[in-house]
Order: sequence, then C-alpha cells, then structure tokens
Amino acid sequence: MRLIHVLFVCLGNICRSPMAEAVFRHLVAEAGLSDQIAVDSAGLGGWHEGEAPHHGTQEVLRKRQIAYDTIVARQIRKEDFASFDYIVCMDEENLAGLRGRAPAGKKLYRLLDFAPELPERNVEDPYYTGRFEHVYRLVEAGCRGLLKHLCAEHGLIYPAD
Ligand code: 4NP
Repeated sequence: MRLIHVLFVCLGNICRSPMAEAVFRHLVAEAGLSDQIAVDSAGLGGWHEGEAPHHGTQEVLRKRQIAYDTIVARQIRKEDFASFDYIVCMDEENLAGLRGRAPAGKKLYRLLDFAPELPERNVEDPYYTGRFEHVYRLVEAGCRGLLKHLCAEHGLIYPAD
C-alpha cells in the first residue's frame, strides 16, 4: 500500500510543528503503523532552517521519552503541496500563509480540527507565550484525533484506547 504522507506546519518550525511531528510519529509507531504513515514538518518562514527544536519543545518531549533527535527545521517548499497528502497547520495565521502558496483546491487542515472536544481551534505559539506544557496537551489531543481520522479514512486498524 502507498505511504500516507503527513506534513505539520507552523511559522518557525522550531516549536509547534516539530512537537507535532515527534508526537505523531510516536503515536504512529505505538499503533504499529510506521510502514504506512510518513511524518515530517516545515515552517512558513526559513529563519531557523537547520536548527534543532526549541529547548521548550525538547523539554516536554524528553519528559515523555518521545524522540526528536532526527528533527531539523526547514522552510516549506512548493513540492510539499504535491508530496504530502495531509498538510496540517497550527493556527489561522498559518492557514492564511499556506493558502497563499498552495495550489487551488489543495485541502489544508488545522491540527485542532481533529480535536473538536477542545474549546481551542488554534495551537497558540509558545515561542511568544512560553506555555509549552499547555501547547503539548493541545498537540497530543490533535495528533490522537488525526490518527483516528486517518485510520477511519484509509481503513487502517486503530488500536484500542
Ligand atoms: P513556531 O514558533 O512557529 O511554533 O515554531 C515560532 C518560532 C520562531 C519564530 C516565530 C514562531 N520566529 O519569528 O523566529
């Protein structure tokens, strides 16, 4: 079966989208779906290209023993819109930025579209607020919902809760 490609996008690709990449890859591995779902992340801006995730993101991931050692910041590229089946961003500002670059008709998502149980629709930017633990909880809820959604849409077996 063809791999399903998921790209997480935020502004700088050092706080939120690398966190989502790490958490989602971890959930996918736990579910035994690593050979069916590929995960990456990118930023709308290229200011942090080549950098490891922000220390606040590293800290929340390390605490939960979620690996992030392969993650390096990069800017989104034109080809990404064709290569990735699901482009999932963090807030409405990201969505507007993506819409300006995406080919017409390309479906774009916000992570919290997959966590309708939460009051938030945007994953706030901890680069400015410092609230990495709060952001982690939003990211985890969104990633769990996204995995359920992908499993339902592609007929994959989702492990029992
Ligand atoms: P992120 O946070 O979009 O969650 O990675 C940011 C990181 C860096 C900047 C902005 C947001 N920056 O302007 O450098």
